[in-house]
Amino acid sequence: MNVSDASFDRERPDVYGDAHPKALLRSVQEDGDYLVKLSNQHIVSSDQFSRDTLIQLFRLAAKYESNPTRFRSPLQGKILISAFYEPSTRTRLSFESAWHRLGGDIMSITDRSTTGIAKGECLDDVAEMFNNYGDCVVLRDNNGESLEKMMDTLRIPIVNAGNGRDEHPTQAMADLYAIFKWRPELLAAEVPEERRIRIGVIGIPGRMRTVRSLLKSLAVFHTSIKEVVIIHDGSDDDGLFDPGQREELEERGLTIRLANELDEVLPTLDVTYINAIAWEGDGFETYGKKFILNADSPLKQDGIILHPLARGEELAKDLDNTSHNWYFSQARGAVFLRMALLTCMVERAERVIDVV
Ligand code: CP
Repeated sequence: MNVSDASFDRERPDVYGDAHPKALLRSVQEDGDYLVKLSNQHIVSSDQFSRDTLIQLFRLAAKYESNPTRFRSPLQGKILISAFYEPSTRTRLSFESAWHRLGGDIMSITDRSTTGIAKGECLDDVAEMFNNYGDCVVLRDNNGESLEKMMDTLRIPIVNAGNGRDEHPTQAMADLYAIFKWRPELLAAEVPEERRIRIGVIGIPGRMRTVRSLLKSLAVFHTSIKEVVIIHDGSDDDGLFDPGQREELEERGLTIRLANELDEVLPTLDVTYINAIAWEGDGFETYGKKFILNADSPLKQDGIILHPLARGEELAKDLDNTSHNWYFSQARGAVFLRMALLTCMVERAERVIDVV
């Protein structure tokens, strides 16, 4: 066994939730048609994904995670262009890890000033070159419009890996993958009222791309959710939602309630999602400083915490070795989720469908 295998195979404490992909895998019937339809699709927004497509992606991710050394070559001969013009630990490395683990090759740009953009080259021309050099692009750009500009010229698929304050759809998919590994029964077509979950979101839907995309994805599974409680400090009421954002989510079936007192709500939450960082222009702002989760917080006994990370003071390290910590599983599972999505985008789904 080499080191790469060992990093996935070694025994880990169950508090990280790694025992669960097999349960998810068993609970869903494979239907490859939904995966094949993702061929050559640009991935821009959480709006694009139907419930059935997400469930099949989660199933494929669970198949990869249940047997991490089984599929080494579905992306052999394919080249990923990984372009990250804004800092990233998890998204860039998990996309690149996903591609490597499936046998593909990668070209990585971590600073736009090393490309012709520094000499005034337009994004159309950069996109045209990408068509010649690779098979898929993953782009993180603090300019929310760059993605749309490149899509006009690209003939290879592109993934939005975070575009300013707008969206981060694959993060939301990784968030839901963690939730459904924790409770696969929530994927059922009918979830009895008493089994539905209450989710608390400490974050600002109108300013945080992670929260914006998460809420859209949760709306797809609204029949599994009692309500979403947005916990905010009251000082940001004007910008809490973009105009029409809350109404649109409610029209899609999500029940949303606002709360200001974290410790009053925490004992009722099955899932507590927390994020403090929002990208603003070239930098970031930190919000919600009065909300801190630590081992003394009055969390529901079997409640879990999700955080897209990077964390600051809002999430204390004394929670890391507790059963509430599902944020490490969430970050780890993102590799398998991205493996599933990338396989489908570059027309290699048929190499893994019907393979056990
Ligand atoms: N969750 C997330 O987007 O993390 P990075 O900024 O490290 O990619």
